[in-house]
Amino acid sequence: MLAIIGGSGLTQLANLELSRNERVLTPYGEPSGPLKFGRICGRPAVFLARHGDAHSIAPHQVNYRANLWALSQSTPVGIVSVAAVGSIRPDLEPGDLVIPDQIIDYTWGRASTFHEGPDSAVTHIDFTEPYDRALRSRLQVAATAIGVKISDSAVYAATQGPRLETAAEINRLERDGADVVGMTGMPEAALARELAIPYAAINVVANYAAGRGDSRERISLEDIHAVLAASMHQVHALIEKMVTSDD
Ligand code: HPA
Repeated sequence: MLAIIGGSGLTQLANLELSRNERVLTPYGEPSGPLKFGRICGRPAVFLARHGDAHSIAPHQVNYRANLWALSQSTPVGIVSVAAVGSIRPDLEPGDLVIPDQIIDYTWGRASTFHEGPDSAVTHIDFTEPYDRALRSRLQVAATAIGVKISDSAVYAATQGPRLETAAEINRLERDGADVVGMTGMPEAALARELAIPYAAINVVANYAAGRGDSRERISLEDIHAVLAASMHQVHALIEKMVTSDD
């Protein structure tokens, strides 16, 4: 069964035929909301809204450990994370979809490992490739099969939020090699790796990052919402294809 974590613009999976909501208690506290188990085109899937069903949990306040631990209990074959991003790379335009292949983490103060505390041995994970290669390639194949244009490599910069960045910060991220910027990719990806769950992301470009394109002077939040609303049918179609090609 595939697990999907939905971000801004995807608090509900329209094509999920819900069979049950499950509230999972975890050793790390409460997940963002109930796990939604159901079927997409007859195939089982589980969905979790990262920011809560009412979109009320800010990126730095998401309980990533509880979310990942809760999802791990249903032993998913993989987790597909959907997350809005700002575009730094000029060829990525609002409305475009991206499968990132690398991460630079600028977040701070987030509980970012399961391996801490007096009873836990220090544990290091290999994170050279933060996203699962096979799951990324399945996303790419699914996108091609349904004719959805998707960019298959990008460096994702994870910022703290909840504010958007300054233009100078975006210039710095570009110098660092980042192509897109979002607020929720970490520690989610690292926690999935700690649990050994294959993890990949669909980034939806919601806007040009601060100081770029039509965000040169300011970023319009209304435009972000409109772009996300208009792009989600592609994300739904992609997830549907992924789930139905799941063995
Ligand atoms: N910056 C950070 N996170 C985002 C952005 C952005 O410009 N757009 C959507 N999520």
